[in-house]
Amino acid sequence: MEDVTDAAFRKLIARTGKPHVMFTEFTSADGLVLAPEAGQRALRAKLLFSEGERPIVAQLFTSVPAHMEAASKLCASLGFDGIDINMGCPDKAVEKSGCGAALIKNPSNARALIRAAKTAGLPVSVKTRLGYNSDELETWLPELLAEEPAAVTLHARTRKEMSLVPARWERVKRAVEIRDALGSKALIVGNGDSVSVDDAREKAAETGCDGVMLGRAIYGNPWLYADRPEPPTAKERIDALVEHIRLFDKILGDISNFATMKKHFKAYISGWDGAKDLRIRLMETTSASDAIACLESVR
Ligand SMILES: Cc1cc2nc3c(=O)[nH]c(=O)nc-3n(C[C@H](O)[C@H](O)[C@H](O)COP(=O)(O)O)c2cc1C
Repeated sequence: MEDVTDAAFRKLIARTGKPHVMFTEFTSADGLVLAPEAGQRALRAKLLFSEGERPIVAQLFTSVPAHMEAASKLCASLGFDGIDINMGCPDKAVEKSGCGAALIKNPSNARALIRAAKTAGLPVSVKTRLGYNSDELETWLPELLAEEPAAVTLHARTRKEMSLVPARWERVKRAVEIRDALGSKALIVGNGDSVSVDDAREKAAETGCDGVMLGRAIYGNPWLYADRPEPPTAKERIDALVEHIRLFDKILGDISNFATMKKHFKAYISGWDGAKDLRIRLMETTSASDAIACLESVR
């Protein structure tokens, strides 16, 4: 997730309890090809990873197959284990250039992008939605499967639905049926509203999908994939946030704005007496060292 599961947070997750596969934030392939040096630095920061995160997949977006080819080859040279193409992002700026969810309206270009990504020799997957304005799974999924991607991750809502309605997991089940009927070997990964690994396992059992991608459940919860019986204590939550801020400062401190870290504060610091006061003080901090000092004052 953009500006959430960045290199710092992923490193912490990998240490705390890692999923079977990790994905980077989505990264502009156009930028990787065209941006001047200053822009390149920020983009390349999205592609930083540590060995502990493997298998790690780079997620790219573009509507230009030649850019997809060049960016995928770059990702291969950086040591990524796979390429994922974003065909689900509803952001207007992304869609304006024909990327993200706009590709659902342009299956032939979507297919050309998969072919372009495959030239790098890595497994290629697609992250998409059920359709654009309406559910187009019956026609959209076969278009993608015709290019033999390694996997399709289906965020079980349409573009129009954004994240405003519950994810339609029965459509993930249908995606598995479509895949099987076509004799495709692509893995079907469901996505949307899973709150825990147990919840994800239930959804996988109900739908027959091969895997589940979890997004927002990771907020403030690097223990999401750690098999632990008890929820983390207040001290553990504070310690983890200190570690998260340290990693952010070390890996991204001179590239990303410290304000990016603030979206994590509420998720970590809640659920005990005094959490709200601490959070208010924390939100007023302006640097990693300030924030760490604030947290250490209560440890
Ligand atoms: C802040 C934020 C950033 C996101 N960034 C990305 C992204 O870079 N690439 C992507 O494929 N999906 C992105 N998503 C969508 C999620 O991957 C996921 O499809 C969606 O949140 C539904 O799944 P969930 O209920 O498990 O979060 C983002 C979502 C949020 C809330």
